Amino acid sequence: MKRALTGIPITADIVRRFVAGETRAELIEVAQTLLNSGRMVSVDFLGENTTDRGQADATVAEYLSLINDLAALNRPALPGIDAPPVEVSVKLSALGQALPDDGPAVATENLRILCTKAAQADVWVTVDAEDHTTTDATLATVRELRGEFPWLGAVLQAYLRRTEADCRELSGPGSRIRLCKGAYREPHDVAFQRANEVTESYLRCLDALMLGDGYPMVATHDPEPIADAVDLAAESDRGPDRFEYQMLYGIRDAEQLRLAAAGSAVRVYVPYGSQWYGYLTRRLAERPANLTFFLRALVSK
Ligand code: FDA
Repeated sequence: MKRALTGIPITADIVRRFVAGETRAELIEVAQTLLNSGRMVSVDFLGENTTDRGQADATVAEYLSLINDLAALNRPALPGIDAPPVEVSVKLSALGQALPDDGPAVATENLRILCTKAAQADVWVTVDAEDHTTTDATLATVRELRGEFPWLGAVLQAYLRRTEADCRELSGPGSRIRLCKGAYREPHDVAFQRANEVTESYLRCLDALMLGDGYPMVATHDPEPIADAVDLAAESDRGPDRFEYQMLYGIRDAEQLRLAAAGSAVRVYVPYGSQWYGYLTRRLAERPANLTFFLRALVSK
């Protein structure tokens, strides 16, 4: 049994609140349930920071099987929404970006393989954002592949001081940007540290994206930017075919359903796989209140 940052043992019940399961079969069941509820999904096969070529190749193989299985899901119609309801999210560090010598080139080539398969299956791909030392290499890969796959998305993190400028640059026609606050521990010179500064940066970035010509993906659980996105959508005449809300599996489920019932496009980021430890500790670090949930789950066992 693994231990979280706090030394608390992480049980299967705790993992299941935030992770769809360790196997693809478990994930597929969760994804179909979410689709049936009027939401869309973005699936992440958990894993990161691979320094082994064989591991990167195994990740590519899993994503190819995943895309196959996702393509076979029943996709209930979503009125007014044109986006494919199924997407995969991928970390370039899981595809080999950190390999010595030619890591970024290996990751780019592996991403090209995934995108080729995804295009055939009408599945979107978005590249996750990792720590700031990878931002330039990740955006370079996305830029390179968007020539072939114009729908390829990228994540930007509002806590990075550079991101407002990145949002302006990447708010052009066809550009698909998922804006999140950011989940890694970053130094002061590259990232805002205080929660209110991060939220203010998020709001400025959101402005740039929503008033631009791309396809913003508003990835937050925070009520303030969500309310702001509602206003900006009205101001810029954006219907549910031109932007979407995104939240993590297991977080603010009722709010996800409320937005979807109101006719908005809502996508749930659903992780699965056995490498859940890093993902789970980031969820715990950003919301210590989750500790209460962890402890309750332990006591009730
Ligand atoms: P914030 O953390 O300020 O929370 C606002 C409110 O949301 C809280 O008051 C609470 O009500 C609720 N909430 C937030 N987190 C919760 C939790 N863990 N449990 C329960 N309630 C919670 N990061 C990154 O660095 N790279 C990436 O690629 C991505 N990708 C990504 C995709 C999607 C779809 C989402 C939604 C998020 C990410 N993230 C991410 C994570 C993101 O950077 C951030 O860490 C979390 O979304 C939490 O930030 P919020 O914007 O929700 O605000």
